[in-house]
Amino acid sequence: MPTKPLSSRIAVLTALTLLVLLRCGSALAADAPTATPETPARPSNPGGTGPAVSLAGDAGNGAALFKTSCAICHGPEGKGAVPNPGSTDGTVPALNPIDPAIAGASAREFIANTDLFLEHGSRPEGPKPKMEMPAWGDTQAFEPQQIADLIAYLLRLNKRE
Ligand code: HEC
Repeated sequence: MPTKPLSSRIAVLTALTLLVLLRCGSALAADAPTATPETPARPSNPGGTGPAVSLAGDAGNGAALFKTSCAICHGPEGKGAVPNPGSTDGTVPALNPIDPAIAGASAREFIANTDLFLEHGSRPEGPKPKMEMPAWGDTQAFEPQQIADLIAYLLRLNKRE
């Protein structure tokens, strides 16, 4: 059997090595955790974050406010399961655990994302939702410090303190 010239054997070897490297590369890329977290969920009502995001919240006070103003819709300790007929989900969302698209990757994101809902309120998707998230900030139902306290409580419920 005539031996192939050295140059063609080198060419074949190089091609094989490249192929192996490429396959390893794509396998690694597929296993790597996604660098970009999912897009944060936003309330239906527009507006930016309010002054609460730069205040230190008191989770204990937030727990008391939650009992009187939030538990009726979000369930005790935010466990959810409260029916919301006419909404696509069929229930008011649980806040414990909270939607990962609202929790975000850091406490900072958690605070900003929850603040938007508390400030401006939100109408859930669906033909005729019976319950909507009220705009506690825009209507001045709560002071910024109270909103910060509620967010501190939500962080605690989600073990994100
Ligand atoms: C009248 C019922 C009602 C009350 C009272 C209420 N909420 Fe909501 N809340 C909702 C509904 C409905 C949504 C879902 C909105 C949407 O899907 O856009 C919601 C959404 C939220 C969200 C975003 C979570 C998600 O997954 O969409 C947060 C955070 C939140 N509420 C916190 C609170 C806090 C804190 C209080 C008390 C100050 C409160 N809510 C009181 C009905 C209520």
